Amino acid sequence: MEQTLSIIKPDAVAKGVIGKILDRFESNGLKIAAMKKVQLSRQDAEAFYAVHAARPFFNDLVDFMVSGPVVVSVLEGENAVLKNRDLMGATNPKEAAAGTIRADFAENIDANAVHGSDSLENAKNEIAFFFSGREIS
Ligand code: RTP
Ligand code: MG
Repeated sequence: MEQTLSIIKPDAVAKGVIGKILDRFESNGLKIAAMKKVQLSRQDAEAFYAVHAARPFFNDLVDFMVSGPVVVSVLEGENAVLKNRDLMGATNPKEAAAGTIRADFAENIDANAVHGSDSLENAKNEIAFFFSGREIS
């Protein structure tokens, strides 16, 4: 069993597809072990995406992530990290495989509907960034 962190990004929350995205997780063997809706501060978004701080797209990424509320969840299941990345599809929705969350709900590489941890180690850190132990079950 693995746990991974998912964020339903501001574009998908604004579009009203929270339920449709959560259904993709639950229908594919990922249980929601924790969940909350949050308005990230600029400081939150900068810290969460600190690994990308030197990238040219960093400011746009932070602007986008604070542009509205997000839904953060811990997903649990076999191979949860990779399974979630598969369900999400490629970073650029134009390159995302048919039937993936980004192909179905994302507009462009900035407004791309979801975040998912990209390794087990990052998943542990990202889960701890948002949730205390007693919030996860
Ligand atoms: P995420 O972290 O949000 O799950 O996305 P990801 O792993 O698929 O992609 P990553 O490389 O971690 O990039 C984080 C977010 O930065 C934006 N980005 N823009 N303009 C660009 O070339 C570019 N590259 C990345 C995307 O919004 C991506 O989700
Ligand atoms: Mg990433």
